[in-house]
Amino acid sequence: MKTLRLSDSLIDIQKAAQLLRDGQLVAFPTETVYGLGADLFNIDAIQQIYKVKGRPQDNPLIAHVSSVEEILLLSSYISPFAHKLIDAFFPGPLTIVLPRNPTVPGIVSAGHSTIAIRMPNHQVAQTLIKYAKAPLVAPSANLSGKPSPTNIDHVLEDLDGNIAAVIDGGTCRVGIESTVIDMTTSIPIILRPGFITKEAIENVLGVPVEVMQMSVIKEIHAPGMKYRHYAPHATIVVLDVSDIDSHTFTQTILLSNIATLHDNTVITYPLTTQTLYSSFREADHKHIPTVTIILDEETKKDMGIMNRISKAASKK
Ligand code: TXA
Ligand code: MG
Repeated sequence: MKTLRLSDSLIDIQKAAQLLRDGQLVAFPTETVYGLGADLFNIDAIQQIYKVKGRPQDNPLIAHVSSVEEILLLSSYISPFAHKLIDAFFPGPLTIVLPRNPTVPGIVSAGHSTIAIRMPNHQVAQTLIKYAKAPLVAPSANLSGKPSPTNIDHVLEDLDGNIAAVIDGGTCRVGIESTVIDMTTSIPIILRPGFITKEAIENVLGVPVEVMQMSVIKEIHAPGMKYRHYAPHATIVVLDVSDIDSHTFTQTILLSNIATLHDNTVITYPLTTQTLYSSFREADHKHIPTVTIILDEETKKDMGIMNRISKAASKK
């Protein structure tokens, strides 16, 4: 199949929406990362998503909506707390898990009785959902196990020839995936940290929330850890500021807000959510063996980026 490259013009977005209504897959930009969209009510299209991504069948998908009315199509019960989050953070990089309406195909949630819902804060995504006339399921538009795509080149690198189209919306503002919070438990639980922080959520709800799997994130605060990652091929080397002097930097992409080096085998970028995933892909393209990340105090406090660093660095 030839993958159409579409622009973010209205006419192209309408073309993409027609493809989605015809049961095809279309990758599109959001403020976090690019998503691989399919009509939420089209089971064949959703099966295709799992197939082209090589995604495990037990990993549920996020429903993307463009209005509050669409949320009501998807969930039978929106608690007062969930309402507060919707009022405060939609549209934006937050996904809330709610009870799933029986009319929503089970495959969307990999059989779970819940459904994850997000309203992207991106004009292209919102317009596309409106013209598709249905909520869209959209995992990140990468092959399973690869870093999420933050521009159209990343999407094409993984999916060219296997999806109907991709809409070019430039580089994603946030650069890492949305915060996911389960609102079906008695105490809300953050399942995936992100740009919307625990503190921001607690401020809105007025109650404490929990965070899943903090042990992994805490572990990485120990300096000098080296792990091999399943993808990218590059080894992710995580250093503390105090390790800089004793470390030899060579043939690496350095992500650092502190040290800059003048070794011409070192490519340096600031460590931000926008540079993280693209540096992984760049290392693989250029056959650079390592990506070295220097953790400064600010970064260590940022649960969203620490979560992605720890995942990329962990042995799989
Ligand atoms: O920012 C984002 O969320 C991006 C853009 C495209 O919107 N999407 C994204 O989707 O990251 P994906 O499929 O790569 O990640 C979805 C995450 C997975 O960790 C999945 O397990 C979780 O959301 N999830 C989805 N439905 C869930 C549910 N019903 N209960 C618990 N977790 C759920
Ligand atoms: Mg993903």
